[in-house]
Amino acid sequence: MEIKQIERIALIGFMATGKSTIGPLLAERLGYVFIDTDELVEAAAKMKISEIFNNLGESVFREAEHDALKLVINMEKAVISTGGGIILFERNRKLLRTKTFVVNLTCRPETIFKRIQGDQTRPLLDTEDPLKRITLLMAERRKYYEDCDFQISTEDFSEIECCEKIESAYKKSKKRPVDPTGL
Ligand code: S3P
Repeated sequence: MEIKQIERIALIGFMATGKSTIGPLLAERLGYVFIDTDELVEAAAKMKISEIFNNLGESVFREAEHDALKLVINMEKAVISTGGGIILFERNRKLLRTKTFVVNLTCRPETIFKRIQGDQTRPLLDTEDPLKRITLLMAERRKYYEDCDFQISTEDFSEIECCEKIESAYKKSKKRPVDPTGL
C-alpha cells in the first residue's frame, strides 16, 4: 500500500492570535492554498458568524464548522486556518491531529483584549467583561491548544519571523503526518 506524506498545515489558537494574518503569508511562502474555515461557514450560511450565533445558536455554528473542516481536510498543499473553538470537539481534533501538521498560535489574554477592541465579529467575547471571558476560555481550552506539533507566540515575533519558524519546524518535523489510506 502506498503511504503518502501529507502536505497540509492547520493553524489553531485562541481568537485574535493571528491565524488569519499568518495563514495567508505562510501559504504564499510555501506555495500552498490558504483556507479559512470561518470564511467557509459564512459563505455556506450566507450569514456572518455573529448572525449564526445570534439567530441559530452556537450548536448550529459548531456543526457547520465541522462540515467545513471535513470539506477541506484532505486538500493537498493547504494551510487551513481554523476558528478558535474548533478544538473543543474530539471529532475535529482527530481530523486535525491525523491529517495535518498542527500549529498553535499563542498570545497573552491582555494582548487579545487589546486586539479585539471595537470588534463586533466575535460573539463569544461580546460580554460585560471580555478580558475575564478571554482568560477563562483560554484556561479551559489550553490543553487542547497545546496538543499540537508546534507552538509559537505571535506577540514575541514579527509575522515574517513566525512564518519562518513555522516553515522550519514543518520541514524538519519527523511527525509529518502520514495518511494510511493514501488519500
Ligand atoms: C470562536 C472563534 C472564532 C469563530 C467563532 C467562535 C471560538 O474564530 O469561529 O466566533 O469559539 O473561539 P477566530 O478564532 O478566527 O476568531
